[in-house]
This record gives sequence, structure tokens and C-alpha cells, in this order.
Amino acid sequence: MAKRIQFAHTGGSEVLELVEASPGEPGPGDVRVANRAIGLNFIDIYFRTGLYPAPSLPSGLGTEGAGVVDAVGEGVTHLSPGDRVAYAQGPLGAYAELHTLPAEKLVALPESIDFETAAASMLKGLTVQYLMRQTFALKGGETILWHAAAGGVGSIACQWARALGVKLIGTVSSPEKAALAEKNGAWATIDYTKEDVVARVRELTDGAMCDVVYDSVGKDTWETSLDCLKPRSLMVSFGNASGAVEGVNIGILNQKGSLFVTRPSLNGYADTPERLQGMADELFAMLESGKLKVEVSHRYPLSEAGKAQDALQGRQTTGSTILLP
Ligand SMILES: NC(=O)c1ccc[n+]([C@@H]2O[C@H](COP(=O)([O-])OP(=O)(O)OC[C@H]3O[C@@H](n4cnc5c(N)ncnc54)[C@H](OP(=O)(O)O)[C@@H]3O)[C@@H](O)[C@H]2O)c1
Repeated sequence: MAKRIQFAHTGGSEVLELVEASPGEPGPGDVRVANRAIGLNFIDIYFRTGLYPAPSLPSGLGTEGAGVVDAVGEGVTHLSPGDRVAYAQGPLGAYAELHTLPAEKLVALPESIDFETAAASMLKGLTVQYLMRQTFALKGGETILWHAAAGGVGSIACQWARALGVKLIGTVSSPEKAALAEKNGAWATIDYTKEDVVARVRELTDGAMCDVVYDSVGKDTWETSLDCLKPRSLMVSFGNASGAVEGVNIGILNQKGSLFVTRPSLNGYADTPERLQGMADELFAMLESGKLKVEVSHRYPLSEAGKAQDALQGRQTTGSTILLP
């Protein structure tokens, strides 16, 4: 038996229950991982609330973790019990002592990266990798707008932008969050709860505006984001922290300057083992070089997953939060 968090109904954090479950033996192609640290992500809240439907209920929760291989199913030849591994993709169920998932979703974790750092950076770091290096291949010299720059993904983005020589303008909701984003490498910050974001971006860029806007806040920032772009440039809408963007009239892209828009996901980029490995190699190289430092800002025991989610949803966290089994 092993402890795991599950939910039988969608709703607030009170739907999360800690239960004892038998994880069973891994099936063909699967690996059972004994988690040492588990990542907390906003997507976990979307599944809990029902914004993203879980495949079935009751369901486990969470898609990010790091630990050691506990058992392997038939046909798994490249991993053995005791190997150090990390993962950032489904199936749901990472909030657990033991989690079983397809071997192709796991990457070997280099000795130089500890379990907590891996759990704090796999999903968020792979996301920044594809957003900055694939969705729009930043070369250096560009100016970009990044919302929620002091959050988990945002803290990694600020550091990665600095390493690439990109001017990242970060939005945040407090002076403390502004200071953190700037420490991490944001070129400038804007408090989007108080300041006129479009006017500030115009001022900071001498009227040129941004080459790319990365928007994970969604509903509250969609239109402002479009107004911060140069003509014919790219809007990357990659999250819904304030609610989903709905009812968009495609004509708005014409009105705002013949813009491009994309709505990408990690699963859409890390869609083969080879692509996942290539992205992880780049993330691990960033960590090993010291250009990227992912510190764990908040730690909660697995049993307090609901409390951790309330803090994330209530904008009380900065950087990465992990759960400890
Ligand atoms: N598409 C993908 O592949 C992908 C992958 C990973 C993450 N994401 C998205 O990236 C975003 C960041 O994820 P994360 O786990 O690192 O979370 P996070 O950034 O640590 O937390 C979300 C932040 O969003 C900001 N926010 C603005 N309006 C908000 C509202 N109404 N309610 C709550 N927060 C609000 C808050 O920062 P301020 O207080 O500074 O406003 C908050 O700290 C999420 O939207 C997530 O879904 C997308």
C-alpha cells in the first residue's frame, strides 16, 4: 500500500483526499517510480476544478516528479530498479508515494541534479525550453513581455531570457515579486495590478513594442497582451491562471496589426521520447552550467497538497513549490 492524493469530484481544494492505495505491478512498457519530490503546477488546479477534465473519477493528480525506479514492466529495457529519473507529463497521479507511468515519459536524471531541483524544474523548465527555443526561437536582442514573471514558470523564464540576451519585461502583482523577477534577470517589471501595461511597454521600448508576448494569465490579460505587440508579431497564449480566453473573434488579430497567435502545450512539443530527451538535455545543461538556478521556494508534505494549491491559486507563492512524500 502507498499514500496518494485523489479526488472523486471536481471543486475546491477540499475535494483532495489522502488515501492508501495499492499501486499494483507495472504493466508492459510501464515503470513504477518511488517519488522523492513532486512538482506543484497550476495545471493541477485546472484538473481539480474541472477546467480540464480528468479522464475518469476518482482520479489521481499531478504530472511532475522525481525519484527512483521501483519496478519495471515487461519490455522496459533501458531502465532498472534504483535508477534516478524525472518526469513532467501524464498520466495524472504524481501526487503519490508511488506513481506508475509509461517508460517513454521518463528521463534519466543526471547525478548532478538533486530530486528537489528536478521536481521544481522539469515541467516548468521544459515549458520554458519549448516556448523560448521552439515556439519562437529567440536568438538574443529581442524584447518580450512575460506575464506572472515571479511565478514558477516565470522565474525560470527570467533566467533563461538573461542567458539568451533577451530583454524580458515581466508583469507582477507586488513590489516583492518585481524585485524577485529582476533578480532572476527580468530587464524591467510592470505591476499589472496598478500600472497601465500598454503605456509602460510603449515607454520602455521607445514605442517599438514587443517581438513576442508570453501570456499564461489568460482571460484578464488577453487584450492588453495583443496591444503590446509589434505588427505581424507573435502572441503565445499558454495558460489560464485568471480563467480561459473565450469567444475570440479572429478579426481582432487583423485590427491589432496582422498578428499571429498560438496556444501551445508541453505535450504538443514533448510528443516523442526523442523530442522529450532533447528538451531535457537542454534544460539539464542550463542547470549544470549554473545559468539557471531553480530554488525550491515552498515545501509541503504530500498530505497538505490542498493547502499548497490554495497558496498557488491565491497568488501567495513565488518560484517553484514542491510536495514531499
Ligand atoms: N501550456 C503549457 O505548456 C504550460 C506549461 C506549464 C505552465 N503553464 C501555465 O503557466 C502558468 C504558470 O504556471 P505555474 O505553475 O508556474 O504558476 P505560477 O506562475 O507560479 O502561479 C500563477 C501566477 O499567475 C499570476 N496570476 C495572475 N492572475 C491570477 C489569478 N486571477 N489567479 C491566480 N494567479 C494569477 C500570479 O502572479 P502575480 O501575483 O504576479 O500576478 C500567480 O502567482 C499557468 O497559467 C500554467 O497553466 C502552461
